[in-house]
Amino acid sequence: MLLKHKHSLSLRLSHWLNVPIILMLVWSGILIYWAYPAYISMPAWAVEKFNLHHRLAEGMGWHFTLMWALIANGIFFVIYSFVSGHWRALVPTSRDLKNFIPFILSDLRISKRKFPETDEYNPAQKVAYTGALIMGFGAVITGFAIFKPVLLGWLTALCGGYQTARFLHFAMMIGLVLFLIVHLIQVGRSGWATFQSMISGYEHEQD
Ligand code: HEM
Repeated sequence: MLLKHKHSLSLRLSHWLNVPIILMLVWSGILIYWAYPAYISMPAWAVEKFNLHHRLAEGMGWHFTLMWALIANGIFFVIYSFVSGHWRALVPTSRDLKNFIPFILSDLRISKRKFPETDEYNPAQKVAYTGALIMGFGAVITGFAIFKPVLLGWLTALCGGYQTARFLHFAMMIGLVLFLIVHLIQVGRSGWATFQSMISGYEHEQD
């Protein structure tokens, strides 16, 4: 049994930092949203039990702190990817885009077409990972558009106006949550070795 290097320390650090940052951004965003009582669509007892009222300042404090962490981590990851050449493993080629739907149909056993196992990310992974990066970027841009609609009026206008920017901000958040759910299912299907390699950086290889 040989050990093969798979994920660099920079990649793993940046990846795992995303988990608390994104989960806490979603949570603090919900606190901001629910600070307006008309938006809470749950029974009064649940609001009371889970202490969901009047937490606007707390939600904003976390949201506007963690957004800088997301931006810093995003910039770090993009610089790392370009300097190391890692972006080539991540960004789908035109062939990956063509194979995206056929790969998913094959993975779901709907089509009989077989894709050879390789060390590379498969077309669905590449599209999903690049999509998650784009959604993270989109969440930051639309976030600034609704955070500073006067100071950054040009950005708000570029996002289609305040209400559209707000809608897009929610859409990015829902997209990231859906990505995370599918990502976790796929990591579960792929097995312990894949998860372990994202922690240690190494993967066992048969010699
Ligand atoms: C507890 C939650 C998570 C677990 C267990 C997990 C696990 C993993 C694993 C095992 C891989 C490696 C896949 C492989 O080698 O084939 C991976 C890759 C990746 N994950 Fe996650 N992940 C989690 C959360 C997230 C979050 C929140 C994001 C960002 C929105 C994310 C984005 C990515 C990306 C972009 C890659 C590709 C990394 C690269 O090579 O650049 N993951 N994840």
